[in-house]
Parts: sequence; structure tokens; C-alpha cells
Amino acid sequence: MKIHLETMGCQMNRLDSELVVGRLLAAGHEMTDHRDDADVVLFNTCSVRDQAENKVRARLGRENIRRSKPPRSRAARGRKPIVGVLGCMAQRRGEALRTKYPCVDIICSPGRLSDLGDMIARAAADETVTALDPDRKAAREANPDFDALDAGRNPNVRFDPGAPGLTAGRSAQAYLRVMRGCDKFCTYCIVPYVRGPEISRPPDDIVAEARRLVDAGRTEITLLGQTVNSYRHTAAGRRTRFSDLLARVSAVTGLRRLRFVTSHPIDFGDDILHAMRDLDNLCECIHCPAQSGSDSILKAMGRKYTRADYDRLIGRAREILPTASILGDFIVGFPGETEADHAASADLIRRCGYKNSFIFKYSPRPGTAAARRLADDVPADVKRRRNNELLAVQAEVGLQHHRRLVGQTVEVLVEGPSPRADKSRRAPGARPGTADPAHIQLIGRTRGDHIAVFEGPPALAGQYVDVEITGATSLTLFARRPDSVRHPTPRVGVS
Ligand code: 5AD
Ligand code: SF4
Repeated sequence: MKIHLETMGCQMNRLDSELVVGRLLAAGHEMTDHRDDADVVLFNTCSVRDQAENKVRARLGRENIRRSKPPRSRAARGRKPIVGVLGCMAQRRGEALRTKYPCVDIICSPGRLSDLGDMIARAAADETVTALDPDRKAAREANPDFDALDAGRNPNVRFDPGAPGLTAGRSAQAYLRVMRGCDKFCTYCIVPYVRGPEISRPPDDIVAEARRLVDAGRTEITLLGQTVNSYRHTAAGRRTRFSDLLARVSAVTGLRRLRFVTSHPIDFGDDILHAMRDLDNLCECIHCPAQSGSDSILKAMGRKYTRADYDRLIGRAREILPTASILGDFIVGFPGETEADHAASADLIRRCGYKNSFIFKYSPRPGTAAARRLADDVPADVKRRRNNELLAVQAEVGLQHHRRLVGQTVEVLVEGPSPRADKSRRAPGARPGTADPAHIQLIGRTRGDHIAVFEGPPALAGQYVDVEITGATSLTLFARRPDSVRHPTPRVGVS
């Protein structure tokens, strides 16, 4: 069957989608980018904010209309696609989805995706299928086959819904799950309810998967976990901390770059910072959300650390890894947030000197402690203003961070043509005399996760090359290849 899969949300969902596609291809299905062509339309959904769920509702509304139109012929009836809702929203809403959207044939939670092929076969036989994860307690006690999906991975299958058409550079990158779920229960967050309890995968399985990925040409691996640095595994009396896991994966021969996201401040020990300092291929990039700079809001969010704790962590990170890129997340308009609390978040962004922060407006999630106990009392226009203010502070800080790199020569993994590639426009800073009609604007990623735009031949995609940084904005670096200075006509494929 022809299958169309749309993915919303975080890296975890992108990985789930890639793994699902691997299984569906192995079962003889084919993928299509065109929804109207598809026999099966799947949505891998996100529940973290209402906006993400709204997107799914809009898609399902459209499918409902398609389904409700009377079939013109039996053949036309046969062409109405099977509709499946996968992931977090499937788990959160369950059968209720079908009440509102009768078009939904398959409801499949994140932990049941390994059975999706079977579910599609049942739906094709006119069954409706609902596969939800057990509740947290049952899931922990039974410790079900939580990595069944990952264990059957074909490392040669590359599917990145974030990069349609997948360039060679992107295909050198891979996500690798080290744990599922979350036990932190921040009061605003739906994740512990929809992704279940925290369960770490055995380290041997993770290392073996990393090896298979590298053998398949994927030289940059990002370890994924909701709170990845909380990873811990004990078997046969052998304890593996996250820093131990980093050392083991880092030792996989041929792995050029290793990253990990997302970290929780309370589990970020010095052992991890030391691993980042000592392991050559471990990139100096830390995504460790603060969420707020105010102690009273942090307490109400249940974050389990204070502003001073977070300041200390960033201080240690700067001491041990002076050149690291630090990224953060912030929520504005959490219940009870005052102007002083908001100013404390702005101050924290300035003091941390983040490379980038992701800033979100608080969205009450039904069933979470905050939604149950606290009124969503910051008006929408105030949330919007605070969001814009933090974005503006971050833009200033991000620019300072990026400017410090100007003049340096850094290694980038070339991802492919810049999305705004325009052969006639040259990157700022490119010297006259280096333009070559065979060159386009490329983008590459540094170890610190900066995006650099530079001119070069498309054949560089997927390679690691050195570039000299010539200019910066708050989100992007402009660069040129040193070769393009030394050799007026750059040699293709040489960095
Ligand atoms: N409202 C707004 N933002 C949220 N996040 C998580 N839950 C919510 C919510 N209810 C944000 C946090 C988290 C990121 C993935 O999404 O900042 O780090
Ligand atoms: Fe959500 Fe907090 Fe867990 Fe992150 S640590 S997934 S914000 S509950």
C-alpha cells in the first residue's frame, strides 16, 4: 500500500517516524509525499501544547470531510484512505478521537508503534484498531517490550520528515534512543502521562545500534531521551551512568560526532561535563532548559532546582567547557507569573549567554497538576508580549554568541543546499573572485550546533569541511571555505 506519514513535534517523534517507515518498507509498503495518492494516511502527533494538537484536529477534520462524502462508486469507496493517529495525542485522547473524528481507523500510542504494520492490515479488513500503552504503573511493572521498535531498526533506512527530500548531509546524521518516558512530572507537562515511565535501554543494545548506524554511513549520532542525562541502567550488578554510556558510544570506531538532547538540570553532574571535555567526538553543545529564571515559578513548575542551582550549573559548564554552546527552553505566562518573574527569565537569558533559546507560551494540558490546580491567569496578550520580549533578549544574546566565532575556522558537517539557496546571491563576507557558477549556497552545522551558510559545490553534502566564519546574525553564521581564498577556482570535494 502507499503510505503518507506526517510528523509533528519533537526529535523523538522524528525518530519514531523513521523507525516506523523502516518497518513498513520491510513489510512491502511504499511511502508517498502526497496525501491524495495514499491508501493510508498517518499522523504522528504531539500533545505538548494545544497548538500542536490543533494542527492534528485540522488534519482530521479534513479527513472526516473526505470520508463523509458519499462514494461515487464502489471503486471510489475503496480509495478512501485508512486514517491513523499515532503518538502522544493518540495516547492522550484514545477512543475519544474516534467519537469526534469517525474517519480515524487506527489509534496507536508511542509504545505500540512496532505493531503498526499489523494494525494497517486489520484496518484494511475494515476493523477499527486502538492500541494504547498500559498505565504508568503497569508499564513499569511489566517493563513491556519498550524498545521493540528500536531493536528491529534497519540503519540504512533514512526518513527525516524535517528535511523533505533528505540531503546527503542530513543522511549522515542519526537519532538513537537511549531511554523512553519521563519521571519528573513538571507540573505543566503532559509527557510523563503520554510517554510513560522513564525506562533506560541496556547500554550494550545502544552501543550495538550505534555501531550499525556508523557502518551504514551515519557518522553523527544524537542520543535521545526526554531527560537524556537521567539515563541509568543496572544489570548483573553493573551500573551505567549517562557519562559511562557517553564514553562507550563515543568509542565506536568511525563515529565523527556524538550529541545528546534534552538534559534536565538536576541530573547534569560534573561527570558529564568532564566527558564532554575529554571525549574528542562528543560535541560541546548543551541543551538544558531552565524554563524560568524565577524561584517561585520554578517551584510552582515542580522543576526541583532553584535559580542559584541553575546558575551554578552554567558556571561549571563555562569553566569546564569555555567554548560550549548552551541552549535553553523557557515558558512564558505560567500561572501566577508576575512582571518581576518575567524579568528574572530575561535576566537569566542574558547571564547564560545562550546560543539559542526556545520560548513557549504556557498552554494548560488537561490532566497535569498545573491545569488541575492553577488558573491560567496570564492573559493571552501578556503572554504574547512576554514571548516577544524574551525572543528579543535572546536575539541580542544569540548575536553576541555568534559574533565571538567570527574570524575562527571551524569544522562543519555539510547538510546540503541552503533552504534559501540562490545562486545569484552570495553569502556576506564571501570575497570577490571566488564566485563560481557551479557553486551554490550550502549549509553546514558546527560541533556547537551553529548553522553556517557558505558557497561551495553541491557535492560537498555529507562531508566534513573546514570553513572560516566571516559574519554572523543571531541565528546564522556566514562563512567561506579557506580553499576558496587560496584557490580562486575551488577544487570540487576538497575542504
Ligand atoms: N506549555 C508550554 N510549553 C510547554 N513545554 C512543555 N509543556 C508545555 C506547556 N504545557 C515546553 C517546555 C519543554 C518544551 C519541549 O516544551 O519548555 O522544554
Ligand atoms: Fe516534561 Fe519536565 Fe519531563 Fe521535560 S522533564 S519531559 S518538561 S515532565
